[in-house]
Amino acid sequence: MFHQFTYREALRASERISWRVEDLIGDGKQLDFRRPFLPESLAGTATLGFLSAEERVILNQIRGHGYLYMFGMVEEFILPFVLDHARPMLGMDDYRTRALLEFAAEEAKHIQLFRRFREAFAAGFGIPCEMIGPPEALAKAVLSHQPLAVALAILQIEWMTQRHYLESVREDPGIDPQFKSLLQHHWMEEAGHAKLDTLMVGALADGLDQAAIGRAVDEYLAIIGMLDVGLTQQVAFDLAVFARASGRKLACDERAAFVAAQQKAIRWTFLGSGMTHPNFLATVETLSPAARQRIECIAPTFC
Ligand SMILES: [Fe+2]
Ligand SMILES: [Fe+2]
Repeated sequence: MFHQFTYREALRASERISWRVEDLIGDGKQLDFRRPFLPESLAGTATLGFLSAEERVILNQIRGHGYLYMFGMVEEFILPFVLDHARPMLGMDDYRTRALLEFAAEEAKHIQLFRRFREAFAAGFGIPCEMIGPPEALAKAVLSHQPLAVALAILQIEWMTQRHYLESVREDPGIDPQFKSLLQHHWMEEAGHAKLDTLMVGALADGLDQAAIGRAVDEYLAIIGMLDVGLTQQVAFDLAVFARASGRKLACDERAAFVAAQQKAIRWTFLGSGMTHPNFLATVETLSPAARQRIECIAPTFC
């Protein structure tokens, strides 16, 4: 294995981090709608030269709201999945049980965190944002797949959050401080989740032959394909919300450029940045070098 993660270390790291939802939003801590919420590498507005600086900030904020919604939505299937994984072996290893329950508790906190930020967004932005979902339908569809496929999709998501913060958010001085604080605090706890998910993938793959691993990777790719269909729909929703929020009527070629740039950005944000993360690929390689090759062949579509 490429890693030396243990449940005991993950629990210890989790115990060193403690923040509450109330520390990050509410009671005077508000979003600043004069600023962007996401870094450019995730928002993908810079190439849209026909938009004014003000219009690009509006689009950035719509994508920021989408970030809150998407993470709230995926965490609604991560939470029951982690609990289901913990439950059959509660008495086997105290550190395993405690680390996985902390993982679940943190995801429940993140769901509430994203919801509270969405409430603050709705109050300040003033225009409703249409969103894909509902989250229960996505959770049901994802959890209908075999556990190893779901664990791989979750592992990709956990490493994705690390990349977002470390490569794009941390050094960006222009983002709204409250939104940046959310991304930072989420990153802190997700670092532990990525390690626990690596252990979960290892446990679920234990004893499977290469044919069974191949079938799990097929199902993981089916989950990715389903998410991609949803993201494509979300870009169409975002275009409509942008038109209402900015009052700008885009010409036909401008609409096409908007959709192309936003599809690329949203795919990178939620699929490519996790799928190409070196630690995600290293875990896949321990299961099957051929599976890593398959994923690396498909990944450029999302980058
Ligand atoms: Fe989370
Ligand atoms: Fe997580």
